[in-house]
Amino acid sequence: AGASSSTPPGLRFEAVAPNTEDALKVPQGYTSDVVIRWGDPVVPGAPNWDLNHQSPESAAGQFGFNCDFAELLPIEGQRNRFLLVSNHEYTTPQQMFPGYDPENPTEQQVRTEWESHGLSIVEVQGNDRDGRLRPVMGKYNRRITATTEFALVGPAAGSDLVKTSSDPSGTKVRGTLNNCSGSLTPWGTILSGEENVDQYFAGGAEARDETARSRYKRYGMEDSVTARRWENFDDRFDIRKEPQEPYRFNYIIEVDPWDPTSTPVKHTALGRFKHEAAAIHVTDDGSVVAYSGDDTRFEYLYKFVSARKIAQGASEEARKQNMKVLDEGTLYVARFEGNSADFTEGTLPEDGAFDGTGQWLELATCTADGAVTSHVEGMTGEEVLVFTRFAADQAGATKMDRPEDVQPSPKTGKVYAALTNNSYRGANRPGKDDAPTAEYAPIKENKNGMVLEMDDDHTGTSFGWNLLLVCGDPDDAETYFGGFDKSSVSPISCPDNVAFDEHGNLWISTDGNALKSNDGLFAVSLETPTRGLTKQFLTVPKGAETCGPVVREKRVLVNVQHPGEDEEATVESTTSHWPDGGTSTARPSTAVVWKKDYGPIGA
Ligand code: FEO
Ligand code: CA
Ligand code: CA
Ligand code: CA
Repeated sequence: AGASSSTPPGLRFEAVAPNTEDALKVPQGYTSDVVIRWGDPVVPGAPNWDLNHQSPESAAGQFGFNCDFAELLPIEGQRNRFLLVSNHEYTTPQQMFPGYDPENPTEQQVRTEWESHGLSIVEVQGNDRDGRLRPVMGKYNRRITATTEFALVGPAAGSDLVKTSSDPSGTKVRGTLNNCSGSLTPWGTILSGEENVDQYFAGGAEARDETARSRYKRYGMEDSVTARRWENFDDRFDIRKEPQEPYRFNYIIEVDPWDPTSTPVKHTALGRFKHEAAAIHVTDDGSVVAYSGDDTRFEYLYKFVSARKIAQGASEEARKQNMKVLDEGTLYVARFEGNSADFTEGTLPEDGAFDGTGQWLELATCTADGAVTSHVEGMTGEEVLVFTRFAADQAGATKMDRPEDVQPSPKTGKVYAALTNNSYRGANRPGKDDAPTAEYAPIKENKNGMVLEMDDDHTGTSFGWNLLLVCGDPDDAETYFGGFDKSSVSPISCPDNVAFDEHGNLWISTDGNALKSNDGLFAVSLETPTRGLTKQFLTVPKGAETCGPVVREKRVLVNVQHPGEDEEATVESTTSHWPDGGTSTARPSTAVVWKKDYGPIGA
């Protein structure tokens, strides 16, 4: 089915069919271009990418690897000029260095990886004729990497838990790692989540005592030797030598992209877990609420309600004030309850919805004097902030199916969370991570994920919820598309990042499509009579995941992360040659899509 008058604005395009091509496929009448690729220069003086001569020095000035979150910010007073902000989640050295030996990476390679992590801030120039964007050497251009100095802020900063031999103050951290998704704050800064940082730290299972070992274990840090071998070149990645260094990662970071000399911060008040991202809602009275998911099987959904009101305006002063909003307030974790006694695995309850209510459980309150009060017995406030997963366990939080991006709709304030998948849901694994199916997690060994909609009393402690989508092949009986006619929706699997267009439609990018076709980007109608209508807007090349996304009036941007990635992929042998084609090396890149007549997207 194509465009029709009953299709709401934003979704009026011909859906892209599932495919396995090594290409970025967009709807008929649309076209695309690459904005910036891994290795393209970001800061003045940075060299062009050269596969055979990448170095820490070159990488420190170039667009990093594996772009994930993306944001596009208009620069005031400059026509068609924007800041492109991108995360660089992780490196895949075998796809970066010819002849890479996984057993024996060189120091040069490892240091190049450090500089290929983090974020890029780069000015891009558009024009009046089409959606193309070209990187330019502007005054805001900046790289933030795994070696950039960060300030640790909030009540856990300076505590004994986060002191190391190179930082006895416990307030200065070198770098950020595994920045997955993120968001733009209403005050113009960028939030980004440090997600799977366990992969960088060796030796957790050999920690000095049982308490320490259980703490590393709960955060996935058990390997004696990491696959990356970074511990060979810097003691801070070796828990046996620097036991507290891991406690300085897994936070929400905040970057002021408008001040290239500013020190980015890590907010301890939002807790420490595998933050996918955090996103802000501001209530009518100026209260600020941040939502965040912990992306691991059977982990939790959190929110932080600030005790400070937002400082109004776009001045530098207001921005600096607002960068303290996430240091004072209360951290909560969610408990969900279904409302259907007749719930049975995989079938729609009799009331016609997977839905119910929930409670936000208090974990810790951070106060203006930099102190923190614990609401969890047996844990100090600082411990709640640094070992948040244990606090949430004890509070009785609900185990979810891998919460990824959680974003409030700017139009309705309803909160949307991608629950990407959970192969262990209801799998009955005695002695291991396990939890039965439930109305909020109705699919056994959930392969395709769900999208959750919450009607939250933002500053309060109760919410209503329902599953907007139970993803998968619409021909499969257990899938659900907001009650919409399933004969006219696109198959969708493994929702990850979410965003909104100016009409209020939800856009979802996917990672790990379990339906044997490439990942992509989907637009979903949220309002009756088309609520649940889901249409695929693009697909990304083989092996890639779709990230970003940014949906504006005339442009859609996606970060094409890890094209060609699979267990065996190397520089020499990959299934993808995107974006440059031929026999070229695949390069993670930001792409922009627009309508050929440069009209509004989906109009
Ligand atoms: Fe990095 Fe949760 O995806
Ligand atoms: Ca129900
Ligand atoms: Ca993600
Ligand atoms: Ca993901």
